[in-house]
Amino acid sequence: MKDQFKLFIPGPTEVREEIRKEMARPLIGHRSKEISPLLEGIHSKIQQLLFIKNKIFIFTSSSSGFMEAAIRNCVKKKVLFLSGGAFAERWEEIAKANGKEVEALRVSWGHALLPEMVEEKLKGGDYDAISLVHNETSTGVMHPLKEIAEVVKRYPEICFLVDAVSSMGGVKIEVDKLGIDVILAGSQKCLALPPGLAIGAVSEKAFKKAEQVQNRGYYFDFLEHLKYWEEKRQTPATPSIPHLFALNRQLDEILLKEGLENRFKRHQEMASFVQNWAREKFALFAAEPYLSNTVTAVKNVREIDIGKLRENLREKGKEIDGGYGKLKGEYFRIAHMGDLQLSEIKELLLDIEQILKVK
Ligand SMILES: Cc1ncc(COP(=O)(O)O)c(C=O)c1O
Repeated sequence: MKDQFKLFIPGPTEVREEIRKEMARPLIGHRSKEISPLLEGIHSKIQQLLFIKNKIFIFTSSSSGFMEAAIRNCVKKKVLFLSGGAFAERWEEIAKANGKEVEALRVSWGHALLPEMVEEKLKGGDYDAISLVHNETSTGVMHPLKEIAEVVKRYPEICFLVDAVSSMGGVKIEVDKLGIDVILAGSQKCLALPPGLAIGAVSEKAFKKAEQVQNRGYYFDFLEHLKYWEEKRQTPATPSIPHLFALNRQLDEILLKEGLENRFKRHQEMASFVQNWAREKFALFAAEPYLSNTVTAVKNVREIDIGKLRENLREKGKEIDGGYGKLKGEYFRIAHMGDLQLSEIKELLLDIEQILKVK
């Protein structure tokens, strides 16, 4: 029985050995003079990754922590969710759990949220913030962020919160140009790091909003993090320093070795290949043309036993996903994100064809 698998699941993704080794380096203190240059370097590299000047925050938590932070800091009373999948619903649950009023604009799972729908909703509402999951990992839909951002810009009093958990680092997102107030992701998806860090950026507008919000909590208080950054170049609590070493190294690999544009292009090429394969051999779960560049949900039109396919792939040392929550059985997901290469994707698809005996 194998116990190591190449991961084609939508997180955690494969982490290369050089990056894993960074986590075993001798530790430095989080109040030592060595921590500030490390954090400053990471911040400026993430600013390049996201095309921004805004402040960068790195939380030792998973992405859900940053989602909670965005809600607690940017919502005084009411938030609008753009909802079309499981992770949009997580935003809603988080807001409710924090006692905020919620309203949702829903499309059925697998469909995209369109700018005109958003406009209609914003016209009649009175919201502190609006949240969008850019790349809905549960359905393989990539919502039209640019077009939605154009609409949100017409409402300058509203904070625009964007979950880029499964797109940051794989898809170009020009955060400043788009007017995004909070953008966030986790380390374990397109950035190809072990899980454990939530990474994001926060605008001046979001800080202003936070000043008006009571009970922002303790661990994720944006203003406390800002104060520590401005006064000390440190974090208020102890960060996962091994993750920071790995992140720093991986950002160098992304920016200097591969290059951002190449990285985005590689993701696009892997996505097109998997999408074409899915169209030919099965069907796509997500409605065209809003297909994700990082994960494809392959609709199970052949009614195969997805559990068995996964088991057979595991025998070959490969892991795919069998379907999210209520969609189990309806599709299987192939992630093409992080440091995976097109050649590895091709090999996986050949294995699937062989197992299923499809040509
Ligand atoms: C789009 C999206 N948002 C949020 C999350 C939640 O991330 P975490 O479980 O790391 O908190 C995920 C996890 O897969 C996701 O794909």
